[in-house]
Amino acid sequence: MRIEKSTSLLPEVKRGRKVQITVDGKPIEAFEGETVAAAMMASGFRVFRTTAKDKMPRGMYCGMGICFECLVTINGVKNVRACLTPVTDGMTVVTQEEVAA
Ligand code: FES
Repeated sequence: MRIEKSTSLLPEVKRGRKVQITVDGKPIEAFEGETVAAAMMASGFRVFRTTAKDKMPRGMYCGMGICFECLVTINGVKNVRACLTPVTDGMTVVTQEEVAA
């Protein structure tokens, strides 16, 4: 869910150009300047990958590139941190089972 309008506590919300990305085959709306993780979270995606050993779900945790919990495949490139990658129009994102080799 995105903050849609400003309040007395928040400054005016300014967004980049609206773009579309695809996550696991589902088209979702995003805005230039957002990260892939932000766009996925705003569209309800919480599980970005699963662990190799126990298949436990992992998603956005630190949000700043430290934990590597948010690894996804972007445009065919595996193990990309969604929290550090800005969206681009037409980008294809696939959630991963474990860290891909
Ligand atoms: S959420 Fe920690 S590296 Fe992306």
